[in-house]
Amino acid sequence: MDDVEAMFAESNKLLAKLLRMSVRNREKVRVLDLGCGRGHRALACKEAGIGHYVGVDFASADFPEIEGDYVFRRGDACDNELYLGAFDVVLGIDVAFHVVTPQRFQQFLETVQRHAKKWVFVTGIFEDMKLAPHVLHRDMTAFESLGTLRDVQAWQGRCKIARFRV
Ligand SMILES: C[S@@+](CC[C@H](N)C(=O)[O-])C[C@H]1O[C@@H](n2cnc3c(N)ncnc32)[C@H](O)[C@@H]1O
Repeated sequence: MDDVEAMFAESNKLLAKLLRMSVRNREKVRVLDLGCGRGHRALACKEAGIGHYVGVDFASADFPEIEGDYVFRRGDACDNELYLGAFDVVLGIDVAFHVVTPQRFQQFLETVQRHAKKWVFVTGIFEDMKLAPHVLHRDMTAFESLGTLRDVQAWQGRCKIARFRV
């Protein structure tokens, strides 16, 4: 296993643990993964026993074949028209900091709010900083409209994962 795979494996272990802590009857639970990329987090959902998963990304994804109701949809997480139903958990893993402009960030938050019925997990450094032109890390107050902050844990590198109860 190379370093990147090891990092994904480690963070996926934590994500699966947070899912187990958050939801019961997991075979009935629906997870929406905004900015799912190549579907790495779908593997954590499968590990946690989640029954229904929708991954959304605006780039075409090399999404893994996963048995059961695990699907990929092409879509923009900042699109006001995007609605895929109600989800117990909405994930925004390593994606919110790619949404740089204030208007699109507000639309991203609204997409999360439209879909999330119980939990939202988002990752970020959660300090107000600009690291590169295509990335903007915001402090935690930027996410407070998503719900009540339950906990924040170390994620990958300098990033943390925050769990909000809707
Ligand atoms: C750093 S990757 C993270 C991928 C995945 N969440 C993970 O943890 O492996 C960021 C992903 O977010 C996607 N993305 C960024 N902005 C998006 C948007 N507005 N709508 C949908 N996908 C978006 C990118 O295409 C990319 O696949």
